[in-house]
Amino acid sequence: VSPDLSRGNQTSITEFILLGFRTFPELEILLFLVFLVIYITTMAGNILIMMLVVTDQHLHTPMYIFLGNLSCLETCYISTILPSMLAGFLNEDRKISVTGCFLQLYFFGSLVATECLLLSVMSYDRYIAICHPMHYAARMGARACLRLASSSWVGGFLANSITTLSLLTFCGSNSIDHFFCDLIPLVKLSCNDPQLMEMLAFTLSPIFLLVPFLLTVMSYLSIITTILKIPSTTGRQKAFSTCSSHLIVVSIYYGTLLIVYMFPTAHTLIHVKKVLTIIYTVLTPLVNPLIYSLRNKEVKEALRKAFWKFMIGHC
Ligand SMILES: *[C@@H]1O[C@H](CO)[C@@H](O)[C@H](O)[C@H]1NC(C)=O
Repeated sequence: VSPDLSRGNQTSITEFILLGFRTFPELEILLFLVFLVIYITTMAGNILIMMLVVTDQHLHTPMYIFLGNLSCLETCYISTILPSMLAGFLNEDRKISVTGCFLQLYFFGSLVATECLLLSVMSYDRYIAICHPMHYAARMGARACLRLASSSWVGGFLANSITTLSLLTFCGSNSIDHFFCDLIPLVKLSCNDPQLMEMLAFTLSPIFLLVPFLLTVMSYLSIITTILKIPSTTGRQKAFSTCSSHLIVVSIYYGTLLIVYMFPTAHTLIHVKKVLTIIYTVLTPLVNPLIYSLRNKEVKEALRKAFWKFMIGHC
């Protein structure tokens, strides 16, 4: 079907239907409970990390300030997707208004871009700490830290505005074969020339994802070569332990994100992509606080102190 024919009558759409996981209707209640538990745990974990970073003096270093920002980002990130997804499991008709869909697309996309930038800022911080330890204090002062954190947020929202604003009107079918309003399914429903839109969306979004990705990879290549040159084994382990948590988080996030966005038009992968999307939308915010708090001596220490303070305060 040529795009012109299917889009001939430009009836404006007022709501969308999210098809979600229609393939498993008998599992709806179970999925609802699983995702409810995931949502509550994720919010609790990330809010705890944020509170530790803000209140504990020992965590007032750039690495943990960025971690606090990452946790803050992830509470927002998961809140743009999960509440509406949970409601979808319970409702028969999964309608979402065009405005609601658009807001979800906008905030989710902006937070994805911000997360990429913040992850590359965090790897830059590790790069300076490990490869140029003498200059760390000078280059990562409070001002630089504030500038890097705020430019991640501003940059993420600006970058995403360009792609999202071009999608303001929707024509054609109103059902979306996905569990939230994501860029790729929505581009296909745009009133503007769909080929042009696909080209715009699929050249711009990889650029916004690829640039921070390449910066992160470059930082880690330098970090790894520096670490390999350290003569003693304990020295090597010590240097690596400060960046290993971050490396794990980065690998999971980019691994799934790049597969989903690099093959935007491969329809055969649609179910695989839904599962991968679950990993980077739902599971990364859940595992990040776990990875950082279980692998990190300073966070564990801060957690223990906060726990005892809480217990003493309540006895
Ligand atoms: C985020 O970064 C800013 C700027 O460095 C910092 O002031 C703020 O405390 C951070 N937020 C959290 C929750 O750590």
